[in-house]
Amino acid sequence: MSLNLGSLAPDFVQSSTAGLIELHRWAGGSWVLLFSHPKDFTPVCTTELGYVAKLKGEFEKRNAKVLALSVDDVASHTAWVKDIEETQGARVTFPILADVDRKVSTLYGMIHPQANDTLTVRSVFIIDPNRKIRATLTYPASSGRNFDEILRLLDSLQLTDSHQVATPANWKHGDEVVIVPSLTDVRVLHEKFPKGYRAVKPYLRLTPDPSVKAPEAPNPSRFREDVAGG
Ligand code: BEZ
Repeated sequence: MSLNLGSLAPDFVQSSTAGLIELHRWAGGSWVLLFSHPKDFTPVCTTELGYVAKLKGEFEKRNAKVLALSVDDVASHTAWVKDIEETQGARVTFPILADVDRKVSTLYGMIHPQANDTLTVRSVFIIDPNRKIRATLTYPASSGRNFDEILRLLDSLQLTDSHQVATPANWKHGDEVVIVPSLTDVRVLHEKFPKGYRAVKPYLRLTPDPSVKAPEAPNPSRFREDVAGG
């Protein structure tokens, strides 16, 4: 089964370092980052898990839960987590699936036989609170992923959901965003984008990031008090 963007993320029950995980129930109302690792005690994976552990607060801010996967067992994962803490200076507190029977790896197409028959490649699935797959990435075992990019992607997906905008090349939080071409009603445009927009071309309209609040105007009554008291 190929998992396309918009597909329902298949549910599963699998062992992990945090006990049995039933994906849909575990996800609750959160976004999920599900990502696979070829093997425990390998150098690139060790740096990746350490880096993601350091981003714990960033994922929490975005209402996203992190779920790693490797095809080794829980005892191996637990020993590896100690090594990760020692070498990367960060404690892995998110669960690592112990996909010894390749149940989840097979369900999610994480094993690419022409790359390796038994180990997973570096797959990423971003799943939204409605359990839909919203983004995927596939990297070879030899290339560590850029988790800052994964956070940026999550920001873009969440902004699209909340404000009907798209994000241009290399966009990051705070940069101008693109108004989707399907929005054409001028009244709606003014309601939705009170900061205004500029039309570079009729199909390329840019507006300030709507998730960035304008700085608060000074409170005039407070100002008068300061003057009177000062
Ligand atoms: C690594 O994580 O370092 C790795 C794993 C499998 C193949 C190559 C590198």
